Amino acid sequence: MSSDEHSLTVGPGGPNLLQDAYLIEKLAHFVREPVPDRVYHVKGGGAFGYFEVTADVSQWTKAAFLNQVGKRTPMLVRFSSVAGEEGYADTDRDVRGFALKFYTEEGNYDLVGNNTPVFFVRDPMKFPDFIHSQKRMPDSGLRSNNMQWDFWTLSPESAHQVTILMSDRGTPRTWRNMNGYSSDTYMWENAGGEKFWVKYHFKTEQGIQNMTDAEAKAMFGQDLDYHRRDLREAIDREHYPSWRLEMQIMPYEDAAGYRFNPFDITKVWPHKDYPTIPIGRMVLDRNPENFFAQIVQATFDVANFVPGIGPSPDRMVLGRMFAYGDSARYRIGPNYAQVPVNQPISEVHNYNKDGPMRYFHSGDQPVYAPNSYGGPKADPQRYRDPGWFVDAAEIMRTAYEAHRDDDDFVQPGTLYRQVMTPTDRDHLVGNIVWHLSQGVERFIQERAVKDYWAKVDSDLGARIAHELGLAVVAR
Ligand code: HEM
Repeated sequence: MSSDEHSLTVGPGGPNLLQDAYLIEKLAHFVREPVPDRVYHVKGGGAFGYFEVTADVSQWTKAAFLNQVGKRTPMLVRFSSVAGEEGYADTDRDVRGFALKFYTEEGNYDLVGNNTPVFFVRDPMKFPDFIHSQKRMPDSGLRSNNMQWDFWTLSPESAHQVTILMSDRGTPRTWRNMNGYSSDTYMWENAGGEKFWVKYHFKTEQGIQNMTDAEAKAMFGQDLDYHRRDLREAIDREHYPSWRLEMQIMPYEDAAGYRFNPFDITKVWPHKDYPTIPIGRMVLDRNPENFFAQIVQATFDVANFVPGIGPSPDRMVLGRMFAYGDSARYRIGPNYAQVPVNQPISEVHNYNKDGPMRYFHSGDQPVYAPNSYGGPKADPQRYRDPGWFVDAAEIMRTAYEAHRDDDDFVQPGTLYRQVMTPTDRDHLVGNIVWHLSQGVERFIQERAVKDYWAKVDSDLGARIAHELGLAVVAR
């Protein structure tokens, strides 16, 4: 090509020519640069690193990457915020995503969690509605606190997560200063076939640090990309962030009689019932060389398990097992797993064939099973689908069965009264009042006090009512 600056024309003043293949390629490729965004968790950033096992966990899981103290597994981590688009302020009040990919010798294990141990809804049926309420109005294209509070206050199961979101944990200082949680419950299975229910807690070794609401808002004007930049620069400075992995492990038989439904993602398992057990450490020590190739095109799939780890009856996990692969096929294409950042380090054997951007082919190997020509064979011993027992019951659409202490307001009430300091409580009240004051209709404010915050804690409800100038009886 003779010039990067000038298109092909008939003389200096004449028209462009259709035969200018370089210009056409350049313009046509340019408009095809973006791939579809993630449907939410759009704005994010990430890095590579490793996971190192620090305790013997073979009594609980046969997962090979966890079964030797000192063993290291390469990883990719992507942090994100939920509601905003690319370009949105990193420090806006929001939940943060904590998505992990372990490149294990048995294939990729993806654990897609958040910086909060609970979630807003407990049934996948409500998930798209919840996300719609967080994003933009259909008519104006504006975000709407009214829509958010309308949804939350009509969905009392959200109270625990909204208490966390409205606390200073909703504005983490950096991604390095927050914990990560599976939030969902998963199953571990040991080599003897014994099963356990587990929750993952990644505890930051940088210490938890949050911004106040005022600090977070002040940052909008200074640096929209504050969190993305902070992670990048910390790793460039060789200040490698790290997290300690601690597990809560519940014996299989405990689930049925536990005081809370252990599969309800809006609840935590109190640590006095199931203390956390440190088992490993995650360190991030390498920045991506190309953001698009390694972070935008990264796909995390809740259905990517390895032997020894599987889903639980947590309805959210089961719903999510469909959604992430579906999103990857839509965003990146059916061969998304062949993009280098998504490729497992182990060989992949299946009978998938062709499709757009297929890079690895089966050559002359059979493309159907069963076959007589030595194609890969399923291994029912090693890859037996992890399962559990369910009582025979009629198929129905209904809520989870409540356990003895299940109540949507008990755990956020305990968080408010027993875990938060007086300063935390003051900030919580201030943040809720500000949020409820931004275009939220009076009747929704009243519902937020009467049917929501007063049920979390009567003092909290009374304080909010007072600040909003509401006469609603906080009870
Ligand atoms: C049934 C409920 C849910 C559904 C249907 C759902 C669906 C999705 C989809 C389709 C994506 C985009 C994935 C991609 O294109 O790569 C996504 C991203 C994400 N979700 Fe969910 N989700 C659900 C619940 C949750 C929960 C409970 C958590 C946390 C515990 C969570 C954490 C995340 C994170 C962190 C990402 C961003 C992953 C990344 O960095 O690429 N989601 N979700």
